[in-house]
Amino acid sequence: MSNYHIKHLEEYYQVYRKSVRNPEAFWEEIAEEHFVWRKRWDNVLSWDFKKPEIKWFEGAKLNITENCLDRHLPTRGDKTAIIFEPNNPKEEALHITYRQLHERVCRMANVLLDHGVKKGDRVCIYLPMIPELSVALLACARIGAIHSVVFAGFSSHALATRINDSDCKLVITSDGSFRGSKSIDLKVIVDKALEGCPGVANVLVVKRTGTKINMEPARDKWLQPLLDEAYADCVAEIMDAEDPLFILYTSGSTGTPKGMVHTTAGYMVYTAYTFKNVFQYREHDVYWCTADIGWITGHSYIVYGPLANGATTLMFEGVPSYPDFGRFWDVIEKHKVNQFYTAPTAIRALAKEKLEYLEKHDLSSLKVLGSVGEPINEEAWHWYNNNVGKKNSPIVDTWWQTETGGIMITPIPYVTPTTPTYATLPFIGIQPVLMNENAKEIKGNQVDGRLCIKFPWPSIARTIWGNHDRYRDTYFTAYENMYFTGDGALRDAVGYYRITGRVDDVIIVSGHNLGTAPIEDSINEHPAVAESAIVGFPHDVKGNALYGYVILKEVGESRDRENLRKEINQQITEHVGPIAKLDKIQFVTGLPKTRSGKIMRRILRKIASNDTSNLGDTSTLLNPEIVQEIIDNAL
Ligand code: WTA
Repeated sequence: MSNYHIKHLEEYYQVYRKSVRNPEAFWEEIAEEHFVWRKRWDNVLSWDFKKPEIKWFEGAKLNITENCLDRHLPTRGDKTAIIFEPNNPKEEALHITYRQLHERVCRMANVLLDHGVKKGDRVCIYLPMIPELSVALLACARIGAIHSVVFAGFSSHALATRINDSDCKLVITSDGSFRGSKSIDLKVIVDKALEGCPGVANVLVVKRTGTKINMEPARDKWLQPLLDEAYADCVAEIMDAEDPLFILYTSGSTGTPKGMVHTTAGYMVYTAYTFKNVFQYREHDVYWCTADIGWITGHSYIVYGPLANGATTLMFEGVPSYPDFGRFWDVIEKHKVNQFYTAPTAIRALAKEKLEYLEKHDLSSLKVLGSVGEPINEEAWHWYNNNVGKKNSPIVDTWWQTETGGIMITPIPYVTPTTPTYATLPFIGIQPVLMNENAKEIKGNQVDGRLCIKFPWPSIARTIWGNHDRYRDTYFTAYENMYFTGDGALRDAVGYYRITGRVDDVIIVSGHNLGTAPIEDSINEHPAVAESAIVGFPHDVKGNALYGYVILKEVGESRDRENLRKEINQQITEHVGPIAKLDKIQFVTGLPKTRSGKIMRRILRKIASNDTSNLGDTSTLLNPEIVQEIIDNAL
């Protein structure tokens, strides 16, 4: 029997060693015993980080939805697959069984087929956190279409860029979305985006808010009537192990967002196996991840990982502050949630509120608490542990990335002793290394460096959609034969890892990855702006906030600065989305640059963080005099 479910520390070490000594044999055993295949693989793994090319379970045939749905029907047909908790607590929660979910997925898959969507076609999904979102992902997977979910907080411009980059032919959206006391007209955003997307032939619209919307007669259709008429069963498309399952965009240090491509078999095996162990999921547990399915956390740990295990996964439409700051605790009590997985930014925001919000709820169902998306600071860790977990529920601080597909470094609850702020040990099969700036591996403990992974794992992204060179250059050229994560980390005396943060120009704001380039581009489009640079600075709730340095075209211009700041943020909201708004905007007359013209963000970061004691050598700059001027006027 394979070691599908790890239950104590000795077992962890033993299984870990096995997974590293002979990865092929290890993963083959897991794949064989815990999933259904239409055809077995010919080869477990072939890889070359130079090309780079990574293939897992080559030759195997399967459909991931047969693993997430069909195979559960005989034993778990009446078990709840998805609990839907609406934005408004007065609206009734839904319990969707595996049988009902299977039917809904099949109906939507048939609607997609009716609209000419074929295996390999790209479908863009721009939906709020409602059941149709999960159904849409699975419906695509059912027929072999590649889903590209765009977080429904992105602007029309950002949506259009993503639709065009992967050439989506169909969009699934809704009339609007509920977010706390607000509602957002999503269809208006889609309409605007599609003005620049000639490849989109059809838009299927879910009715959620009931707001009046424009329907383009030749293009747009309400989804529900089509679902009602569709056939309730749909034969699953047989996919190759390495056929793409989805594209998900993530920000890079430079340029446009990167469409990370995840393939079918390896992604399924790894997300399922990590889900089982990292959350110690047991058959009758109720699991809740508060992420949005617009991000990788939602893909892997709301949809695929839980459903592949036949779990009950909760989808929450709302926000932690509505109708009050007790909402999370209310949902946990109401649905008797056993595993709760959220982000440090949410914990910090809730920790600022009165404890009464929490204390009036019974949280005794909780067994495991999770954290993801950014480093969790010590204060937030203790607050989470003391108040939510009552020191009884281990915290799993899970480090991973859109690119890694699944959790990479994490404690296993009730197995790995935890230390605040430490992601602790590599998960089974994961071989992290720390590298120094001269590309040498740093061995031993009590060291820090750049975090790389030296051996492939099943759910590593296989390429960037349409740009394999960029995939190679971003992840595989900095260190030979290694996947470079972009993060820094330290390894302590006992070998535990602590992630220290990005070492590139990606900025994590409230757990969302933001690249500097698209934000700067949108600022620069403002008619009064000549140039700009943005950096992150520490923020007590968001982790990081954005600080913008902006050069105006006419220095000394008499325009109202406060107004300009508002306009710049408005511009960013339209081009990227409200999550990318700047907290501080400083108008400057120049930016520190190297002789080759590159902006020295390191210096700007220090000024923004009010840490100007050690700026390093600035004399080699093209314009060293600008540094003092910026410091003198810093906000
Ligand atoms: C950061 C989210 C510290 C890290 C799953 C990574 C973390 C980036 C942690 C990926 C953690 C994620 N501790 N930092 N537990 N989890 N990060 O692609 O910088 O949205 O590279 O994937 O988030 O963010 P992404």
